[in-house]
Amino acid sequence: MGFRYDETTRIASLENGEVAYLIYLNSLGIPIHLHFGRKLSAFPVHEYLKQPSCNYQFFKGGRFCSLDDYFEPIAPVEVSTNLCHDLRPSSASVDIRGSTALDFRFSRFEKASFLPDDSPLPHARGIREEDSSFAMVLKDAKEEVELVLTYLLFHDENVLVRRAKLLNKTGKTIYVKKLASATYDLPYCGQTIVHFPGAWSDERNVAEEEIGRGTKILSSSEGRSGHEENPFFILKEKGTDEDRGICYGFNLIYSGSFQNAIHRNGYDRLRILSGINPENLSFAVAEGASFETPEAVISFSQEGMNRLSQVNHRFAREHVIDPLQKRKQGEVVFNSWEGLGMDFNTNSILECAKEAKGIGSDVFALDDGWFSSRDDDAHGLGDWRVNPEKIDLAAVVDEVHRLGMRFGIWIEPEGVSVDAPLYRLHPESVLGDPERERKFQRNQLVADFSQEEVVDSLLAQIQDSLGKLSVDYVKYDMNRPLGDAISSAHPQGEVQHRYTLGVYRFLHGLKKIFPHALLETCAGGGGRFDLGMLYFSPQIWASDASEADRRIFIQHGTSYAYPLSSISSHVSKASGSYPSKAHVAFFGTYGYEMDPRTLSQEEKAFLLSFEKTVRAVHKEVVLEGDFYRLLSPYEGPRACWMSVCQDRSTAVFFHRSFFKEVASCRYVKLRGLNREFLYDVDGIPMAGDYLMDIGLNLSEYHEEGKDIFIVIRKIEKVSASKKTSR
Ligand code: DGJ
Repeated sequence: MGFRYDETTRIASLENGEVAYLIYLNSLGIPIHLHFGRKLSAFPVHEYLKQPSCNYQFFKGGRFCSLDDYFEPIAPVEVSTNLCHDLRPSSASVDIRGSTALDFRFSRFEKASFLPDDSPLPHARGIREEDSSFAMVLKDAKEEVELVLTYLLFHDENVLVRRAKLLNKTGKTIYVKKLASATYDLPYCGQTIVHFPGAWSDERNVAEEEIGRGTKILSSSEGRSGHEENPFFILKEKGTDEDRGICYGFNLIYSGSFQNAIHRNGYDRLRILSGINPENLSFAVAEGASFETPEAVISFSQEGMNRLSQVNHRFAREHVIDPLQKRKQGEVVFNSWEGLGMDFNTNSILECAKEAKGIGSDVFALDDGWFSSRDDDAHGLGDWRVNPEKIDLAAVVDEVHRLGMRFGIWIEPEGVSVDAPLYRLHPESVLGDPERERKFQRNQLVADFSQEEVVDSLLAQIQDSLGKLSVDYVKYDMNRPLGDAISSAHPQGEVQHRYTLGVYRFLHGLKKIFPHALLETCAGGGGRFDLGMLYFSPQIWASDASEADRRIFIQHGTSYAYPLSSISSHVSKASGSYPSKAHVAFFGTYGYEMDPRTLSQEEKAFLLSFEKTVRAVHKEVVLEGDFYRLLSPYEGPRACWMSVCQDRSTAVFFHRSFFKEVASCRYVKLRGLNREFLYDVDGIPMAGDYLMDIGLNLSEYHEEGKDIFIVIRKIEKVSASKKTSR
């Protein structure tokens, strides 16, 4: 177990009980990537690296190449060397006195250093003695620059975390134009990628694509991870499905503009580069200083994508999400946005609070509209003083607490309206070129979070207006991409990354103002759903689409990378029946978002009775359980999910038919149950092995939009005669 370097074979390895990560140091000092996957009894390096030579200047003609030669088009490297023979997309590009050539060679191994919880970039946490790690220091063959590659493999999770740090010892300022967090080279053998493109209200669709020759770029350049692509994607071997086969997940613990490049060259060598988006990047690093990348996360499963998701979920829950924040989860949050928008006053809010309590809410959260001149989306952002003419906030907080609920509030600290003093008095605090036309997306501009003073002044405003109130939950929103990321304080090439560091600085500060509050993040729905945000807030508003059908697609896609406990989902006033919306919200955090005064008696009765199920099983089955996708809505007219608690005693099964179903033979095999247990399925005792091998018989006539939602429980004691199947 752990890190080993074998001087004879020149192989460095990290291992846990199931997987290994292997690097070969060739005689030129170039670290060659050998393997990440199931542990092997031996690795014949010569055999693996042998390639027939071809008529190419770096090849030795007419024989198999020796493993210690370096062959540009095929060498699987740990980091590629820009302009020094590697013609594929490079891992790093650094301007040193006008040249961006780099040629990194091995210098030494070091002990890995881990980042403290309050460091500027979020990172994997909860690292234990049993986890293995090392750092490999490389040095450029000509210039005094060092590259430190840090590797960490968890002893009980098939997750490898990598990051890179560039140290400048050249005596001059150098400029980082590109520095991938991870480079991953492997042979192409028919793999596909699954990625998660989307748009506002339509986030994280599932898209599977062949890997053609050339480069496929999955990226965001909008200063946040964005609606249109997610930093997470899957590399899937041929034949892999939800339950079988080998697949890898790639993600970044980062919330800004990112780039994942998947390159297949003419020799069928695959390269994956994952990191900060190099577009517009030119980050000055002074002599003696360093540039550190965000962490890249590579997960592995040899049992299909359901297992890969469970690995990702556990990693996020145990090694990204703040354990103190995680403990605050599990309460039913009522949010005012969908029901009231910005059109409220003290009375209407108090009426809603009372009704929200009546349907079982634990937290009453007041969304947008409580401050400054904020009666529509063109005003007020950037001026965080409570609007006393609209709302007596202190009285609302008191009454919410008196009703036995906790109080929550919405903020959007990055947003700036034109009428805000921040913009009028300090236009230099806002992003954008003053000599060019300003773009007002959603009628707003963006505060320049690349300036630490701007971040701190907004924190001070929030402290002044809300710090004295007893706030138990904060929803942090962000509604505009950085289409004009131009700062009065920093060179263009540094703005976006510094901006992201500013967002993290704000979140660290926000936690100090509200040390006891649960944080939820949001970006115009799910426009910043990533591991960087999860480091601060254990739940993220998944989408502004909350009607059941669209939400199924969004939550299905989101579940590949992120745990259900992080998918904030509410039973809202959107179209569709309350039961169908409740079933879908159950497979997320579960909360409410409607005008509760308009609910019929029947709707209230349903919500109250469904809430009993939520109280009984949601925490152990959804927030802490293992999730399985059984049928994909992307592949047919049905969606089917289940989630099982860790001791396998309770599960929840959900099936939605989008269309009317005529009677036909339909069985759905369940997953994750204990084969030995006997379960109660809707009053019928059924054995775990039967449910997993034969499945639930759903051969019924269904009306369009029909749901099946069943809580499955282990039957503790049963007489032999009752051991029947349905
Ligand atoms: C966008 C969010 O997604 C909504 O939930 C709501 O908070 C609005 N912003 C408020 O402006």
